[in-house]
Amino acid sequence: MPSFALRVETVFGEGSIAELGQRAKSAGYKHALVVTDPGIKSAGILDSVLSSLDEAEVAHSVYDNVNPNPTIPEVDGGVQAFTDAGADFVVAVGGGSVIDAAKGVAVTAQLGGTSKTYLFGAGTVPFPSAMKPLFAIPTTCGTGSEISPAAVITDPDTHYKHLMLNCTPNVAILDPNLVAKMPPSITAATGMDALTHAMEAYVNPGNTPFTRMFATRAIQQISMHLRQAVNGPDRAGALKNMLYAANIAGQSMSQGLGQVHGLSHVVSGRIGTPHGVANAILLSQVFEFHKDFLKDQMLEMAPLMGINAWGMPADKAANEVVSTVRSLRKDINIPSKLSEVGMKESDVPQFVEDAQKSQGIFIAAPRPVSADDLGAIYKSAL
Ligand SMILES: [Fe+2]
Repeated sequence: MPSFALRVETVFGEGSIAELGQRAKSAGYKHALVVTDPGIKSAGILDSVLSSLDEAEVAHSVYDNVNPNPTIPEVDGGVQAFTDAGADFVVAVGGGSVIDAAKGVAVTAQLGGTSKTYLFGAGTVPFPSAMKPLFAIPTTCGTGSEISPAAVITDPDTHYKHLMLNCTPNVAILDPNLVAKMPPSITAATGMDALTHAMEAYVNPGNTPFTRMFATRAIQQISMHLRQAVNGPDRAGALKNMLYAANIAGQSMSQGLGQVHGLSHVVSGRIGTPHGVANAILLSQVFEFHKDFLKDQMLEMAPLMGINAWGMPADKAANEVVSTVRSLRKDINIPSKLSEVGMKESDVPQFVEDAQKSQGIFIAAPRPVSADDLGAIYKSAL
């Protein structure tokens, strides 16, 4: 697995969105294509973003045709909007889907053609070499896309979710005021996505002392704050902690993701389940499946999740970690079974075939698995 040097200039704090316009202007940029979705626009979250650009006299156009699990045509529509507007940089305002779509726009607007050309496993240029400048402004706390070198874009003809690589944003602005209006259901799903990033990073055989450091802190922060961020009386304070946690969880995954993502991408691509929900359901099942092999690492993880594991045998701690994931998922009202989100037992063979194409299944997984193993994990989650 190649190493990635993260180089995202990151701004964090309430009101930090006000710095967007001046930062863009001082870099010499003149016209932003703001990529977002209709929900962000109608919730008024875009107002402070556009005001910041206006105050710095940076022109802007808005492209909001991005849906969850963004597709090649949605990205290509953004590239057309970029060209039509005469834009010279991209600003992504939204959750992971929006930021991923904006990454696709930034790469394709720079290199030309359709975004499919730059999708790993689908196009002819799997390692794009350049992109337009990209400012990423998350409005959810989870995906870590603002810090990551990859995007996930769906081919609507095959329903397969492809990675686009080498598309790290230049600047991330993390303003807790922009996540304050996030609905609790989105907070829950994106928070579990962040927990999945950190737990998968922790057991990734390619991990480094640095990715372990980020994963350790992220698991602790998410375990401490996610319930409060979803349905507690101090949502605002907890959301600020979750925005930070999601970002460092994103940094922890720089060595690649694992089997939870490999299996969940298929579920989202085939039946449209939100990414964080699919991950939340599969997270407990993948760790349950590997718990004998991972028990020493899960013993280390246990106290980070609030489990009093001092003196506890490793196999008991591993069981406690799995049940803690299940309780957290239940407390924040996420379904516990894939059958609740529409997957059927007859889907398993096709989903296993799709999942075997995922690099996470083979490279960034704790240990190799067979097709029968993948089928067993899917069935255990039904
Ligand atoms: Fe994820």
